[in-house]
Amino acid sequence: MEQNIKAAAEKFETLLRQQLERAERIKQEKEFIDYSKLDTIIIGVCGGDGIGPVITNEAARVLKFLLADEVKSGKVTFKNIEGLTIENRAAHNKAIPDDVLAEIKKCHVILKGPTTTPRAGDPWPNIESANVAMRKELDLFANVRPVKVPEKGIDWTFFRENTEGAYALGSSGINVSDDLAIDFTVTTTEGTERIARLAFEYARKNNKGTVSIITKANVIKTTDGKFLKICQEIAKDYPEITVNDWYIDITTAKLIDEKRRTEFKVFILPNLYGDIITDEAAEFQGGVGTAGSANIGKRYAMFEAIHGSAPRMVAEGRAKYADPCSMLRASVMLLSHIGFQDKADLLERALDICMFEEKKLQVTGRDTGCTCSEFGDYVMQTVEKLLK
Ligand code: IPM
Ligand code: MG
Repeated sequence: MEQNIKAAAEKFETLLRQQLERAERIKQEKEFIDYSKLDTIIIGVCGGDGIGPVITNEAARVLKFLLADEVKSGKVTFKNIEGLTIENRAAHNKAIPDDVLAEIKKCHVILKGPTTTPRAGDPWPNIESANVAMRKELDLFANVRPVKVPEKGIDWTFFRENTEGAYALGSSGINVSDDLAIDFTVTTTEGTERIARLAFEYARKNNKGTVSIITKANVIKTTDGKFLKICQEIAKDYPEITVNDWYIDITTAKLIDEKRRTEFKVFILPNLYGDIITDEAAEFQGGVGTAGSANIGKRYAMFEAIHGSAPRMVAEGRAKYADPCSMLRASVMLLSHIGFQDKADLLERALDICMFEEKKLQVTGRDTGCTCSEFGDYVMQTVEKLLK
């Protein structure tokens, strides 16, 4: 046992040093990249696993349609990136094989389909999730997830911290002995400041009025306590914004409370709480299949669905009926992020019409509804009508 303790302590020391180095790297970070100054913006497209290639290619098709002029002039180029599949990742025993990562790093933004995350008992080696690895590798510290249900007065934007919390060392826990396993949660000053700053800036620019800081600081006193305190400090620079703090448990309940929930606007949360509550929130909007997600860093950004790769749909031969809306919503955020706000608004408007208003076609995930590419056509036709 003494030896086990010593081995665990040594491993812990290594982890501490790695995290201190990471915190140091965040301090050295420069400003956000300015896309308007680039000659060419490179959009990488990674299909992923399961239904990923179907819905990602559909979203890429719609993006190419919207950006046809920019592609022609050379301002934007699309780059297909192969190899972010579970088979290839398993073969390399790596969350993201080195050559795939090198290709990704040649791009500015990535449109990424869902990737299968192995778990113990799967036929795959228990490698780290490709999502989590990409967020870490590209330092995509902010996971921005909007959820809107206009007729119910719901207009939420979640700013989930994306590189720390329970995820930072999620694959580095320690089995100290047969009877004791330990995981770690990480909060750094720099890591918290940057997510808080981004959320408050967003609230200010978009006149959101209220920011809610969500933690479980009454129990997870050290890391959540630090997260809360830093967010409250940053809030002082935004005196026009109302700031409140809630615990994650009661927040999940209040999202169901019809009177209360419309008061929430912008949320800032540590990684794991953000993961959980954004699935709940997306359900009000029509399910995780309808929600997109932006992973923002200073140099790179990645846009994806908030759901998984749905291997069951593929096994049952239903992949072509997969719903592209999550990836199309992610594409709205991508367009906005790289500076094409008009095109983002246009796509968003078309999606609202197709999904909530006109509903000429419906995706049901099976042959009772339209196919993924029929829905893509419908969205593009709607864009054309809006432009007339
Ligand atoms: C998400 C997903 C991922 C996460 C999984 C696939 C690792 O649930 O993007 O919310 O937990 O972050
Ligand atoms: Mg999730």
